[in-house]
Amino acid sequence: MRTYGETIFAEMTRLAVETESVNLGQGFPDTDGPRSLLENASRNILEGVNQYPPGPGRPELRRAVSRYRSRHYGLDFDPDTEVYVTVGATAGIAASLLALVDHGDEVIVFEPMYDSYAAMISLAGGVRRSVALRRDAATGRFTFDPAELRAAVTPRTRLIMVNSPHNPTGTVFTAAELEEIASLCREHDLIAVTDEVYEFLTFDDHRHIPLATLAGMRERTLSISSVGKTFAVTAWKTGWVSGPEPLVRAVRTVNQFLTFSANGALQLAIADALDNEDAWVEEQRAALQGKRDRLAAGLIGAGFDVDMSEGTYFLMADIRPLGYEDGEDVARALPREAGVAAVPAKVFYDHEDEGRHLVRFAFCKRDKVLDEAVARLDRWRSEKG
Ligand SMILES: Cc1ncc(COP(=O)(O)O)c(C=O)c1O
Repeated sequence: MRTYGETIFAEMTRLAVETESVNLGQGFPDTDGPRSLLENASRNILEGVNQYPPGPGRPELRRAVSRYRSRHYGLDFDPDTEVYVTVGATAGIAASLLALVDHGDEVIVFEPMYDSYAAMISLAGGVRRSVALRRDAATGRFTFDPAELRAAVTPRTRLIMVNSPHNPTGTVFTAAELEEIASLCREHDLIAVTDEVYEFLTFDDHRHIPLATLAGMRERTLSISSVGKTFAVTAWKTGWVSGPEPLVRAVRTVNQFLTFSANGALQLAIADALDNEDAWVEEQRAALQGKRDRLAAGLIGAGFDVDMSEGTYFLMADIRPLGYEDGEDVARALPREAGVAAVPAKVFYDHEDEGRHLVRFAFCKRDKVLDEAVARLDRWRSEKG
């Protein structure tokens, strides 16, 4: 792990605090989740739900996960054997990769990628094969070249990691894109691990389609999601893995030695929210869409080229119109010079040049915070001339 060092999010957040910057780097909302969720969790703690829950998770949460996957996507999972609760999606990803990747196995990932994938594939002894998501000039969205994806498969390929809605590009994979992935999995007998933490945060007419709903995929897909983004409680670190029993059993075998179980009082409250807070989630989705538009317009006004975001908390901004080439230089300078923090996109890439000119901004903040960031960026740009 020597090459990994401190994550860029920790570094940028520290820099943001030191410089009293508006932090649009790390993706966490600055408002709370639904009141009922917070009250239920507090009550559970006060009423004594404070000892180890069962390793696979509280049955109430496993049943609620099973119900919402069925209600939203028509996917049916047995809550006793096909749903497993983890310490955030992060532990679900870790346990899945450690369980399924053997030394020397190849894992296909799309780059840019959420940073835990690379680290966990390394810890499992696996080898990354990255396929680029590139900006399509005609549509302004990031997508992959199916031929490049096919060429990444070798006899050693074991698994493909799929994140949609995608951090950091905001791409929500279409049915056609998912079918490209699914047909490859079926042809080469690959397992898919899907990171769906932004499943309910999609904009305009884009909607999340779980890969497991495609023909032949339910039996070869581990789907991972968590409470953090859906209910704006990123500190709660409670996630879940659902999939066919043999794959979930493998995750369970590993996870019992990673964390064994996750916070029980929160699990009960989350179960209730998954059943009863669809309206709150829809309100949040609509509000985030407005925030995306607000920040995108502001960044364009401040001289950035902004790419379309179909989902998540994020949008990507091209710094070249401002006369810069390297997003890392800009992201390091912005807190001190402008009082705004963002993340250089190249940290999400294996092939850093692909993302050199991009910076990622988070828009999951109150409107006045977004407006303040934009005002500071405007000032910074005019001072720079
Ligand atoms: C793509 C992606 N996966 C997973 C996570 C982490 O989820 P959790 O907080 O549930 O561990 C994040 C958080 O930023 C993310 O962006």
